[in-house]
Amino acid sequence: MTEPQLYDLVVVANRLPVDRQTAADGSIVWARSPGGLVTALEPVMAAAEGAWVGWVGAPDTAPEPFDVDGIRLVPVPLSAAEIELYYEGFSNDTLWPLYHDVIAEPSFHREWWDAYTTVNQRFADAAARIAAPSATVWVHDYQLQLVPRMLREARPDLTIGYFHHIPFPPYGIYAQLPWRRQVVEGLLGADVIGFQRVADAGNFSRAVRRLLGFAAKSPEIRVPDGAGSHRSVVAKAFPISIDVEGYEQLAERPEVQERARQIRAGLGDPDTVFLGVDRLDYTKGIRHRLKAFGELLDEGTLRVGDAVLVQVASPSRERVAAYMQLRDEIELTVGRLNGTHATISHSAIAYLHHGYPREEMVALYLAADVMLVTALRDGMNLVAKEYVACRLRNDGVLVLSEFAGAADELKNALLINPHDIEGLKEAMVTAARMPRREQTTRMRALRRRVHDNDVAHWSTTFLDTLRHASHQSSAR
Ligand code: G6P
Repeated sequence: MTEPQLYDLVVVANRLPVDRQTAADGSIVWARSPGGLVTALEPVMAAAEGAWVGWVGAPDTAPEPFDVDGIRLVPVPLSAAEIELYYEGFSNDTLWPLYHDVIAEPSFHREWWDAYTTVNQRFADAAARIAAPSATVWVHDYQLQLVPRMLREARPDLTIGYFHHIPFPPYGIYAQLPWRRQVVEGLLGADVIGFQRVADAGNFSRAVRRLLGFAAKSPEIRVPDGAGSHRSVVAKAFPISIDVEGYEQLAERPEVQERARQIRAGLGDPDTVFLGVDRLDYTKGIRHRLKAFGELLDEGTLRVGDAVLVQVASPSRERVAAYMQLRDEIELTVGRLNGTHATISHSAIAYLHHGYPREEMVALYLAADVMLVTALRDGMNLVAKEYVACRLRNDGVLVLSEFAGAADELKNALLINPHDIEGLKEAMVTAARMPRREQTTRMRALRRRVHDNDVAHWSTTFLDTLRHASHQSSAR
């Protein structure tokens, strides 16, 4: 057997940044998916002999490592049973609802936990096998929280970073997790643990104090080494962002602008296009948004023909019961609202259960007067940042939930509490009627903010902190 090639920077994430496509001749090809993370990491990966370890998204398929756009991809296999227990089960029916404030009820099953442990070990082994001596390994997200510790045990020479893309809940909620101690210990294997918000880092530090009794106050956690000394772990906020320039360049393209005009014309050129763009997920507050919009139509504050709501709800986790149920509820509500309010020529809601390529998303952002981000809880919400990045003319209004991480930065949005339906309705009306001057003042400030922290800045800041942290611990 040939020795595996070794890499100085290894990214570990549940998914590889590729989509499986079937070519005309029936063969399987892997096309790069347009995610922000891969765009951010591409230059760093190219400069540093980088590899990405992850799952291809289909059962029992683990092709040999391959290159896509200059990045080495190292697939980790998952069986159909592991997809059910580790991915749909523990990741998305235990951790996801628990970490999002128990908006849906989390299920706790010991077999799911066992599969989570097994799969985390497989990811850790794959990374340990291909990491060069003293390499940097960057682990991503809640599906892989045990990997940092597993990696440290196998390879104490590595510098290990972890970034948590979703919220970390307050201790009173986190404490429900039967394996709360193991998960915290898993994360503490990292040198740097990044969170979206300052509050998430605070919640994590508190969980460490409560469960393990370590001195923990963000940004520093002291993990005793058993010999009377300690190892320092940095736990702090690194708010993630988007490829701002990439979005701006698309928004400048004449054909994308033309597509935006077509979209508006196709909607009957209304005065106000409201837009929602979400994965179809119960954390996104889509029901609250529909309720507010429906009431504004019922009351006659908004009228079909003058106003329309475009709701893109991209399919997600479709085999998890809570998601099936949500889809049924949303589609029932949309059907009712359209049945009640639509006319032969105008819909109240254009509902699209599809994912779209980035060009089409940008055209939608350009076509929308008001962007509605009404998440009940969200780690960051990149849609809010994408909308802002695309508004080159500094017009348009962002209505943003204060429960999305993005609200910490985007303070010039119209901030709302999505549970307060009256408040949400008021904000929607204010947005629809906002004078152009106020739109400009707000949008300018928002755009400045998004420019100051784009995704390249985010990844550089994280990796610099990691480099610094590992130097400090090796100097001790
Ligand atoms: C969130 C998570 C990601 C996840 C994405 C899509 O943004 O933070 O880790 O990849 O949702 O979900 P999926 O289950 O399809 O990977």
